[in-house]
Amino acid sequence: MRRTAVVRVLVVGMVLGQVTGLAAAATEAATPGSEGLPSALEAARLRARLETALAAAAWDSALAPAQELAALEQEEHLEALYRVLRIHCAREDSSRAYETLDDLLGAGWWNHRRLRTDPDVAFLMARERARALVRAAWSRQYIGMLERDTRDAMQKPVEVMAALAVQPGQRVADVGAGSGYFTLRLADAVGPGGRVLALDIRQEMLDHIAARTRAAQLENVELRLVPADDPQLEPGSCDLILMVDTMHYVKDRVAYARRLRAALAPGGRVAIIDFRFDPQAVREFAPPPEQQVAREVLDSELAEAGLVVAADHGFLPEQYFVIYEAR
Ligand SMILES: C[S@@+](CC[C@H](N)C(=O)[O-])C[C@H]1O[C@@H](n2cnc3c(N)ncnc32)[C@H](O)[C@@H]1O
Repeated sequence: MRRTAVVRVLVVGMVLGQVTGLAAAATEAATPGSEGLPSALEAARLRARLETALAAAAWDSALAPAQELAALEQEEHLEALYRVLRIHCAREDSSRAYETLDDLLGAGWWNHRRLRTDPDVAFLMARERARALVRAAWSRQYIGMLERDTRDAMQKPVEVMAALAVQPGQRVADVGAGSGYFTLRLADAVGPGGRVLALDIRQEMLDHIAARTRAAQLENVELRLVPADDPQLEPGSCDLILMVDTMHYVKDRVAYARRLRAALAPGGRVAIIDFRFDPQAVREFAPPPEQQVAREVLDSELAEAGLVVAADHGFLPEQYFVIYEAR
C-alpha cells in the first residue's frame, strides 16, 4: 500500500476507532518508521525518485513520490509539534501549551487517543477547554471523511435513494445520521408533508446537520441525541429506518433490532447498509475487520429480532444493502 494510502487508512482507523475504542493497534502502527525503513532513509529514497522524475518531466511518475513525501513530511511535522507540546506541558506553561495544541490540531493531528492518554500531556488535557478543542477537531475530520469528494462513487446515493423508493409524506429515521449525507436526501424525498428523524450519539454531528438543514431551509428534519443502545423511537412511528455504516457500532444488535422493529409502522422497513465482512480487502474507509459484521450474522440476528429480508440490493461495491421487514 502506498504511504499516502497508509496515512489515510490510519486517519480513518483512528477516527472510527475513537468511537469504538479500537484505536490502539493503529496508534502503534502509526509510529514513524514502523513500516521498516527509518523515515530519513525513506525520505531520501523518495526525494531521489522525485528528482529523477522531475528532471525527465515525467509528471505521472513524479506524482506518487511527491505525495508520499508530503505525507511523510506532514507526519514528521506533527511529531515535532507534539514534542513542543510535551515540553510546554512539562514546563506547566498552559498558554503556550494551548497555542501549540491549536497549531497541532490545525496542522491535521489525528491521533486524539494519544492526546487523551499520554501522561506527558495530561497537564493540558485535564482541562475541559483542551478536551473540547480536541473533540471539535475530531468532529471536523470525521465530517470531512463522511463528506469526502470520492464517496459518491462507492456509496451511490442516487441509486440507493431510488432503491429505497421513499414516498412524499413518509416518516423516516436516519439512525447514525453522521454529517447528514443521507438525511438531506431523505428530507427532500419525504417533502414538506413528511418527517425525517436524524439520530446520532454525538451532538457535534447533529449540530452539523442543523447548520445544513438551516442553509437548505428544510423544516422537516428533527434532530435527536440518543444513547448508543437505544434509538428511542416511538412505537409504530416509522415507515422506514435507515442505518448506513452504523450497525457495526452497535454492541447488542439483537436487542437493538427489536427496538427498531417495534418502531415500524404497518408495512414499515429497516434498510441496512454496511461494509461486507472481508478482512483481506483493502478498503480505505471500512471499519477494522474485528468490527465488520458478516451479512449472514446480521441476517440471523435480525431474524431473532423478528425482521426478515425483503430485498437485497447488490450494487454497492464494498457494502451490502438489505431491506428487512417485520415477520
Ligand atoms: C460511519 S458514520 C455514518 C454516518 C451516515 N450514516 C453516513 O452514511 O454518512 C456512523 C455514525 O453513527 C453514529 N453512531 C455510532 N453508534 C451509534 C449508535 N449506537 N446509535 C446512533 N448513532 C450512532 C456515529 O456518531 C456516526 O455519526
